Amino acid sequence: MDKLILAIESSCDETAAAVVKNGREILSNIINTQIDLHKIYGGVVPEIASRKHIENIDAVIEEALSQANVTINDIDAIAVTYGPGLVGALLVGVSYAKGYAYAAKKPLVPVHHIKGHITANFLAHKNLEPPFISLVASGGHSHIVLVEDYTKFKILGKTRDDAAGEAFDKIARVLGLGYPGGPLIDKLAKEGNSKAIHFPRVRIDKDSLDFSFSGVKTAVINYLHKAQQQGIEINKADVAASFQDAVTDVLCEHTIDSCLKYNMKTIAIAGGVAANSDLRNKMTILCNEKGINVLYPPPVLCTDNAAMIGCAGYYLYLNGSRAKLDLNAVASLSIED
Ligand code: KG4
Ligand code: ZN
Repeated sequence: MDKLILAIESSCDETAAAVVKNGREILSNIINTQIDLHKIYGGVVPEIASRKHIENIDAVIEEALSQANVTINDIDAIAVTYGPGLVGALLVGVSYAKGYAYAAKKPLVPVHHIKGHITANFLAHKNLEPPFISLVASGGHSHIVLVEDYTKFKILGKTRDDAAGEAFDKIARVLGLGYPGGPLIDKLAKEGNSKAIHFPRVRIDKDSLDFSFSGVKTAVINYLHKAQQQGIEINKADVAASFQDAVTDVLCEHTIDSCLKYNMKTIAIAGGVAANSDLRNKMTILCNEKGINVLYPPPVLCTDNAAMIGCAGYYLYLNGSRAKLDLNAVASLSIED
């Protein structure tokens, strides 16, 4: 029997709802982004995000059901992101999901946002099965994860300071490009020379798969300050391309090393930074050389969406995972819980 999951995501600045069939088929995927509202502040303002989620969530969920051509009666379970993320933003989705699940007498399934990002690959690649390695790089996280099973994840490496997406956003800000920075750097870098400036590639020690992006961020900022003091004109495209080259080199190297170390055959990349064109190209070339299969979701499933929560929620639902009505939003939540 087909299983339909209604999924709700509100962890940051996207109010999203989706209907997913049997974990692998997207029947609808509605994303109401608040980017334009937060842009003028140079980043997400949590209070504004929560208020906008409250205004939008009803219509987004109605639209998700309507585009999927189903009613709440056809839904088998409601899946909701309960962490990690902005606690006020998460609470809107969690409260809505609890109320809806109670009223409609549907099971409620709690979903970890980062696990959702990883499982976006199951939506994009119908034959993908665990185990595999996933690099999940977003605005708040940079993890290398061993996906042991559909609901079992083991962290092999993570950032010790900034997330990769956070570094993209900060450098875009100092270059005066705007928010969110990742897509803007990605675009500008295409006009620049990635070998123009050498920025550091940090390896904490040779046995560690952990990342550190604060060094490359500081190096770019120092470069810009020095050039300004000396009255040297900056080529922003070269800076963007060289910075991106340093970050994607490290992301690729650590991920491929972990794949070889754990004898895996497949790498699936995920999270907002997985939309980066240089990361995709580089990872594909390097993996081809090593005989590793590399997968990534389309850009719309890389950045925040609810379809990925529907996929993760489906496997959790099959596994018997249920939340009670005292489910709370959790700002920091380990992927291994
Ligand atoms: O996964 P996501 O939508 O939200 C979080 O869970 O954080 O990721 C957003 C992050 C932002 O930092 C954004 O700048 C980055 O992903 N991003 C990119 C690209 N598209 C989005 N970074 C690099 N290149 C891109 N094309
Ligand atoms: Zn995310």
